[in-house]
Amino acid sequence: MNLFATLNQTLDLIPEGARAAGLGALMKGAGKVTRYLPIPQPTLLVGPGSSRRLGQALTAFGHQKLLIVTDAMIVKLGLLKSLTDALDAGGTAWALFDEITPDAPIPLIERGLARFQEEACDALVAVGGGSAMDAAKVIAVASANPLKPLRSLAGYFKGLNHPPPVYAVPTTAGTGSEVTVAAVIADPQRRSKLVIVDTRLVPKMAALDPELMAGLPPAITAATGMDALTHAVESFLGHWASPGTDGLALAAVGLIFDNLRSAYLEGSNLEVRERMSLASTYAGMAFTRANVGYVHAIAHQFGGRYHTPHGLANAIVLPQVLRFLAPAVMPRLAALAVRARLGTVKDNEQVLAQRFLDAVDALNRDLGIPTHLAALREKDIPALAEAALHEAHTGYPVPRYMTRAECESLIRRLLPPKEEAAAPAGGLAAPAATSPAATPAPEGQPKAARAPRKAPAPPTAQTAQTAPTPRAPRKSSSRKTPTAE
Ligand SMILES: NC(=O)c1ccc[n+]([C@@H]2O[C@H](COP(=O)([O-])OP(=O)(O)OC[C@H]3O[C@@H](n4cnc5c(N)ncnc54)[C@H](O)[C@@H]3O)[C@@H](O)[C@H]2O)c1
Ligand SMILES: [Fe+2]
Repeated sequence: MNLFATLNQTLDLIPEGARAAGLGALMKGAGKVTRYLPIPQPTLLVGPGSSRRLGQALTAFGHQKLLIVTDAMIVKLGLLKSLTDALDAGGTAWALFDEITPDAPIPLIERGLARFQEEACDALVAVGGGSAMDAAKVIAVASANPLKPLRSLAGYFKGLNHPPPVYAVPTTAGTGSEVTVAAVIADPQRRSKLVIVDTRLVPKMAALDPELMAGLPPAITAATGMDALTHAVESFLGHWASPGTDGLALAAVGLIFDNLRSAYLEGSNLEVRERMSLASTYAGMAFTRANVGYVHAIAHQFGGRYHTPHGLANAIVLPQVLRFLAPAVMPRLAALAVRARLGTVKDNEQVLAQRFLDAVDALNRDLGIPTHLAALREKDIPALAEAALHEAHTGYPVPRYMTRAECESLIRRLLPPKEEAAAPAGGLAAPAATSPAATPAPEGQPKAARAPRKAPAPPTAQTAQTAPTPRAPRKSSSRKTPTAE
């Protein structure tokens, strides 16, 4: 158990107002430490063809055998070919584990680990979205710590032994996992997600190859792009932000507002795809040091309970959390607005902040992101809020403390209309007036409880993430044809 978890359990006995002050001070203090924590950065190869260049580079490292960790769709689309051709040409042996599913669950990681051991591999190459990259990271840490059950690796620095190297080829522009210290997997038994954090999990080298993203379906482009935006925004607004992380987060926000709509509408534009993958990587670099906040804490609960895709869950929650935080972070929201080209530094701060909130709503609307979570059920809200606040208050440097009542009320605003009607009377009322968070926003400031504007005929959370449209698979000439094994 980490220090924050222990402290939070002790603080459970203390009234919520006092707890808010205690945790705020503790998190600010911890930020002073994380600012100087050495976090390795992978060598980045960027641009069309960089996955082939990664394959060429890997042949120089003298690995005995690489395990390529990916999913069946990536194989079917022929996205491994440049990499595996380069490995074959350089005489580097590799084996394939292509069973990854979204939010890779524990039994799947165990199968990947068995493959890693059976094939006597000594390094991993993840090719795919966050699910493949995180699975490879967890297989790596588990292989080095065979006596530890997977669940016990969740938390900070739980693996004693150094994991084998991981290399990454992201095929979505969202998670930033190619540069982060984190790995997220699913625990289906407990219907929750496990987060493993260790600086030794950062990949050694990563290829940002826009050619691999040209066929990413619009709905996945949208959701993963909003994940990257959430990383940038949460790292910028939290207490652990520093000048270094601010630069990266702002760069990501600018790139995302400039390019995400085009990536959604015009997926084959490689320049736009490259800029989105840079944005995702910059946002990953920012949050791996400055961490995330309430949006991720709540979204992880939706992922664990309803299997809502991670980026989609973040996109739906982000507008609500921004409105809640706004009174405490007005100048920071204004700075985000300027970087999103919504005004200049000469404009009124509150006006800029409001424009940023409106621009996030508009972006969601243009990307077909719904304002409600179709799977959400009123009866689940107390447990969801409790788990989200536990995650946030034991790990994230949030800029404004959220009470249990405020969290429940925020989640309740995401109920689909049918469930909303079944919510208890007063369930949609403003947050309880027991903490500073309940203070109404002064005139002209963004209002914490304002509902986002309704999207025209919004898709539901269940329909928004459609299955990828397969492109014709390219012909494979590698000595080992990658098929679903
Ligand atoms: N480690 C971290 O720092 C970190 C950060 C954020 C999120 N995550 C985790 O990452 C996971 C989500 O990752 P994700 O959003 O990238 O989605 P994903 O990896 O789950 O992939 C989503 C879908 O997109 C498909 N896909 C991926 N690339 C494609 C391509 N180029 N063309 C066509 N289809 C493609 C996949 O087959 C899959 O069906 C979650 O488990 C989340 O918790 C990790
Ligand atoms: Fe995320």
